Amino acid sequence: MSSQTQSSPAHDAKPALPKRAQIVLSGTKPTGENLHLGNYFGALRQFVDLQDQHDTALYFIADYHSMTSLRNGAERRRNTLNVALDYLAAGLDPERAILFRQSDLPEVTELTWILTSVTPMGMLERAHAYKAAQDKGEDVDHGLFTYPVLMAADILLYGSHLVPVGRDQKQHIEMARDMAHRFNRLYECEALTLPEPYILEETATVPGTDGRKMSKSYGNTIAMFAAKNAVKKAVMGIVTDSTPVEAPKDVQQAVFEIWSLFATPEEREAMFARARAGGLGYGDVKKDLLARLMDYFEPMRARRAALEARPQEIEAVLRAGVVRARQLAMPVLEACREAAGLGPVRG
Ligand code: ADP
Ligand code: TRP
Repeated sequence: MSSQTQSSPAHDAKPALPKRAQIVLSGTKPTGENLHLGNYFGALRQFVDLQDQHDTALYFIADYHSMTSLRNGAERRRNTLNVALDYLAAGLDPERAILFRQSDLPEVTELTWILTSVTPMGMLERAHAYKAAQDKGEDVDHGLFTYPVLMAADILLYGSHLVPVGRDQKQHIEMARDMAHRFNRLYECEALTLPEPYILEETATVPGTDGRKMSKSYGNTIAMFAAKNAVKKAVMGIVTDSTPVEAPKDVQQAVFEIWSLFATPEEREAMFARARAGGLGYGDVKKDLLARLMDYFEPMRARRAALEARPQEIEAVLRAGVVRARQLAMPVLEACREAAGLGPVRG
């Protein structure tokens, strides 16, 4: 399949964008208190850019998906509000993008069933998330196993063309394409549109403080909007090798990769040259990273604080969003029902 992988420096906010896609869609699970640098540079920043580049952009909060790992209603409700706040603070604009909560459109679970009936077990057994849970010997429930089908339904229900995500989600989008293709072929129709991933090469996998992929589940995150002390603790805790200050440094380390997210290409070249020459201490790089990070997110932090005081407005944004999302979803669901010989949506 053709993945639209772009190569662009992390700070370059406006990469050349593919022209033909009209509907952009993505989602984020409300599984943590606050989004982290991996979420932002891997996905959210592209959400913001793409809302201006395409006819329609839909961004939702994947609360159904969070049910495979979070079993506390109050926490889900709180996290959902937090993701909405993060979205708006980062620059998603309800005038330019449709923002909604996944469970406000329960029809997505109907499409999940429809897709389930054309999804081979083997495809789901090859899913990375399922295999990782199996390898760790975890008790896997059916929700986790069928997670890629719900995600395919999210994407296909709105006729999405382009799905901005980090690299870890690429396999899920390939599966969504497969399911759409199988449904269309089996029912001899064109009800479903085949989506493509949109993954920026430079930020496809942002490393965490321990050098592995930054992820809530690894506890190696740097949160965008945490209190300064918590951010400082995370930044100072980035694992580095034990090269002495005067020795040349290997720039292929998390500390340099994370620092580069906040630097221009020229600044990066200069920093890497200093690192290779020796005489650069990791402590100084971390201090500079902290200052740049706090500066970068300051305007968003201020916007978030202002919005936080008005939770009813957030709810109103989500409610307005789902009305518009439903207008896109119903014709697609209707076409699937028609092709499959099910009754009309309103009979
Ligand atoms: P987590 O792995 O912390 O649970 P999510 O699964 O909620 O994060 O991811 C939300 C979005 O952020 C997805 O598009 C995902 O690909 C992206 N993302 C998450 N972590 C990273 C990372 N370390 N680098 C790049 N993108 C990431
Ligand atoms: N699975 C995604 C994640 O873990 C969240 C998600 C759910 C999503 N449905 C989606 C992303 C549809 C893109 C499109 O991050």
